[in-house]
Amino acid sequence: MGHTAARLTTNDPPAAEEILRQGIAQAGGPVALACSFSVEDVAVIDLATRAGLPLGVFAIDTGRLPEETYIVAETVSQRYGLSIEWYFPQAEAVQQLERQKGLFSFRESLENRHQCCAVRKVEPLRRALSGLSGWVTGMRRAQSVTRNDILPIEVDRAHDGLLKINPLCDWSERQLWDYAREQRIPIHKLHRQGYPSIGCAPCTRAVKEGEDVRAGRWWWENPEHKECGLHR
Ligand code: ADX
Ligand code: SF4
Repeated sequence: MGHTAARLTTNDPPAAEEILRQGIAQAGGPVALACSFSVEDVAVIDLATRAGLPLGVFAIDTGRLPEETYIVAETVSQRYGLSIEWYFPQAEAVQQLERQKGLFSFRESLENRHQCCAVRKVEPLRRALSGLSGWVTGMRRAQSVTRNDILPIEVDRAHDGLLKINPLCDWSERQLWDYAREQRIPIHKLHRQGYPSIGCAPCTRAVKEGEDVRAGRWWWENPEHKECGLHR
């Protein structure tokens, strides 16, 4: 379903819950959260649950996720009584990639890294989004230079004009963790081990004090390249 206008019906900086509420209403059909089980994404689940908003949850299992992601996924699922829709990459495409280029091709060049993300993340995302009127992310502007411009509600031109809802877009790291603490939401164990941002295991590492929150993602690349194609 295509959307032509993304707008909020208030001039004040809207609260996350209100963004979610208005986004779901504007989408006018099924909306789901793309969930990586980071503290951001679990905070969105918590917000939606408290507000009684209809929000599906899907997750992409790239085949290279850290064990801790599966563990927190089960905890979140039980705590909120959720049935998570898991999506996997196409087996043929992964087989071909690994047979041709090996298991760590993403370290060799930006092109190879994009190819791996295309197979393991971007293609499954397309399938996850089909049939939805809108999708929700846990993205925040403060996360990186590549996210400075995200809006609370936007039209996702990369995905057939679907509505893309980023309820936490204005949240600082501090606001996020205050919320997490107050609501006692389940926390991904790697966050406690120096990982502010968590993706696939071989492409994520802990950051040092004072480093950017996404410094541990594809740490061998320049900051302006650090997107995997889920968000364009
Ligand atoms: S990424 O694009 O660099 O991997 P990041 O880890 O910062 O993204 O997460 C940004 C948002 O993308 C998350 O809040 C979530 O909405 C979505 N996302 C990231 N990884 C996944 C995943 N494996 N499954 C579903 N959604 C994901
Ligand atoms: Fe492949 Fe790394 Fe992208 Fe995961 S983050 S899909 S392992 S390149």
